[in-house]
Amino acid sequence: MCGIVGYIGHREAYPIIIKGLQRLEYRGYDSAGIALYDGTQIKLSKTKGKVSDLKNKLEADITTNGTLGIGHTRWATHGVPNDVNSHPHYSNSGDLVIIHNGIIENYESLKKELVKRGYTFKSDTDTEVLVNLIEDVKKHENIKLGKAVQIALNQVVGAYAIAVFDKNKPNEIVVARLGSPLAIGIGDDEFFIASDASPFIEYTKNAIYLEDEEMAIIRRGKNVKVRKIKDDSLVDPYVQELQLNLEQIEKGGFDHFMLKEIYEQPSAILDTFRGRLLTNEAIIKMVGVEDNMKKFLAANRIIIVACGTSWHAGLVAEYIFEDLARIPVEVEYASEFRYRNPVITENDVVIAISQSGETADTLAAIKLAKSKGAFVFGVCNVVGSSIARESHAGAYTHAGPEIGVASTKAFTTQITVLTLMALRLARAKGTISSSEFRHHLIELETIPRKVEEALSSDAYVQTVADIYKNATNFLYLGRGYNFPVALEGALKLKEISYIHAEGYPAAEMKHGPIALIDEHMPVVVIATKKGHYEKVVSNIQEIKSRKGKIIGIVTKGDESVKALADHVIEVPETLECLTPLLTTIPLQLLSYHIAVMLGKNVDQPRNLAKSVTVE
Ligand code: AGP
Ligand code: GLU
Repeated sequence: MCGIVGYIGHREAYPIIIKGLQRLEYRGYDSAGIALYDGTQIKLSKTKGKVSDLKNKLEADITTNGTLGIGHTRWATHGVPNDVNSHPHYSNSGDLVIIHNGIIENYESLKKELVKRGYTFKSDTDTEVLVNLIEDVKKHENIKLGKAVQIALNQVVGAYAIAVFDKNKPNEIVVARLGSPLAIGIGDDEFFIASDASPFIEYTKNAIYLEDEEMAIIRRGKNVKVRKIKDDSLVDPYVQELQLNLEQIEKGGFDHFMLKEIYEQPSAILDTFRGRLLTNEAIIKMVGVEDNMKKFLAANRIIIVACGTSWHAGLVAEYIFEDLARIPVEVEYASEFRYRNPVITENDVVIAISQSGETADTLAAIKLAKSKGAFVFGVCNVVGSSIARESHAGAYTHAGPEIGVASTKAFTTQITVLTLMALRLARAKGTISSSEFRHHLIELETIPRKVEEALSSDAYVQTVADIYKNATNFLYLGRGYNFPVALEGALKLKEISYIHAEGYPAAEMKHGPIALIDEHMPVVVIATKKGHYEKVVSNIQEIKSRKGKIIGIVTKGDESVKALADHVIEVPETLECLTPLLTTIPLQLLSYHIAVMLGKNVDQPRNLAKSVTVE
C-alpha cells in the first residue's frame, strides 16, 4: 500500500534512505521508520506521523552510520497508526528486521501457531507475524535467511513487498514481492530497493522490477540472485534502463494521480476482497459484521450517512441491502442528518461511509447517532481515522492512499465492502439461497478482471470526450442500481472540468428535465442489459426524438442502444447488483479526459479539498 526503501553498498545508508522515503511521500502514509546497520549495532527508529518527524527523531541522536539500511512509509491495514505498529519490525530474537507493504490475509492463523511456539508480539500488525514466521522457519530448519524467506512465504496468503535482513549477515538483504511493487536499483558496487524507482533514479537508471512470486538475495559487492518463491528456481532477471523522470515515476507513468487511481481499481478491489471473499469455502468473512451480527439482524433499519461520492456509494448500498438482505435502508447526507433532529433509536444501525475518515459532517452525524443509542459501523479507507475510531465497529476499504481529490477507487472499494456486507447479512437472514449466494461470490470474484476490461475502452472514451468537451451542460441518466452511478458520473464531471452536469433517474425525464434536451445537450445514459433495460431504451428514444446527443453505457454486444445512440461505450456483463462497479469506469474516464482537454488541474480542482474537515 505504501512505500519501502533499502540500500546496501559502500555509502552511508541513512541519507539515501531518508531522502528516498521523502520521495515516496506522494503515495500518502500515516507513519514511517528506518533501520540502519553498521555490522555491529542496529539503529532502529520509527514514529507515527511524517517522514520529517522521523528525521527529527533520528537526527537528534544518530549514532549508527551503517552502509546497510531499510526504510518504510506505512499505510496501515492491521493495527492503528502508532509508533509500535510502524515498521521496521524486529523478530523475537532481535536478529531479523523487516519492512512490508501489503496485507497478510492468513496472519491470524499463523500468529496462533507462533504463539503456541512461544513467540510474543509487540504490535498488532500482520507484518510482525511474518518476520517471526521467517525466524521460526530459519531456526527449525537451521537454514540461511534467503531459504527461510522462501519457505515462509509459501505459507503466506496475501500481498507483500518485503525487505528483510539478518544482523548476523551484514552483507545481505532479502526481498520478495507478490501483489505489491518492488524495484531493485543496480548501482556501481551498490544496490537500492524501493516500491518504485523515485528513491534511486538519481543514483542509477538500471533497475530490475521483480515479478509477482519472485524474491531476490542481494549481496553487497557481489550480485542480485532472483529466484521463484514457489520452487526456489533461479530466474535470469531483466535489467532495464529507466527512461522515466521523477514526476512520471511518482504517478506510475500516468499523467495524473486520478488516472493512476482509476487504473488501480482492479487491484484495489482485489485488496478489499482479501481475507473476506472466500469463494472456495462459499463464505464471506468480515470480523466487524460477524461480531455484531445480532445488531444487524435485529435492526429496524440501516441509516447510511455520508457526503459526496461516499453518499453515492451509500445509495448503491440502499439498493443492494434492500434487494438482497431485505433490510430497510435510508441514505442521508450527513450534513442534513446532523441538523434535522432525526428520529434515531437504539434499534437503528448507522453505517458511516468516508474515504478520509475525517469528514466533519459525517463525524458529527455519527456522534449524534451514538448519543441516541444507535450502533455505528464505519466504512473508511484510512485505518485509525477519526470516523474509524468513533465508530463502534467497521470494515476498511483497502484502496490504498487516494491522492486525487476526485474520488474514484474509494468509490468502487466502498461498494465492494458494502456488497460483501449485504451478501453476508442476506445469507444470515436466509433471504437468498445458498446457490444464489455462491453465484454472487463467484461473479464478485470476476469483477477485478471485468473492471480491467472496462478500462480497455479508455481510448474510445477519449474520442467521445473530444467531441463534447465544450458542452456547457450534461445530463446523466440511470435506473435502479445505476441511478446512483448517474449521480456519481455527474459529480465527477462537475468537480474536475467545471462543466455543469446533473444526474437523474431515467424515468424522471418526463417530469421536467426533458425540457432541457436539444442538439447541444449530451446525455449519458447507463443502459446495461439488467433491470429495466427496455424502459431505459424508451427513455433514449424520447431523448433522440428531441435531438439530444446520446452517449450510451451498454452491456458488451448490445445492439438496440447502439442503433439509437450517437456513441456506445461497452462494459462486460455481470449481475445487476454488481453493474455499478463497471458502469462507473467509463464515466470516470470521460470526466478525466474532458478535464484534461480543457486544461484543468485534475488532481487539485479549484475550490476543493481532498478531505472536508470543516463544516
Ligand atoms: C468526490 O470526488 C469528492 N472528493 C467528495 O465529494 C468526497 O467524496 C466527499 O467530500 C466525502 O469525502 P470522504 O469520503 O472522505 O468522507
Ligand atoms: N499490513 C501492514 C501493516 O498494516 C503493511 C501496511 C502497508 O502496506 O504499509 O502494517
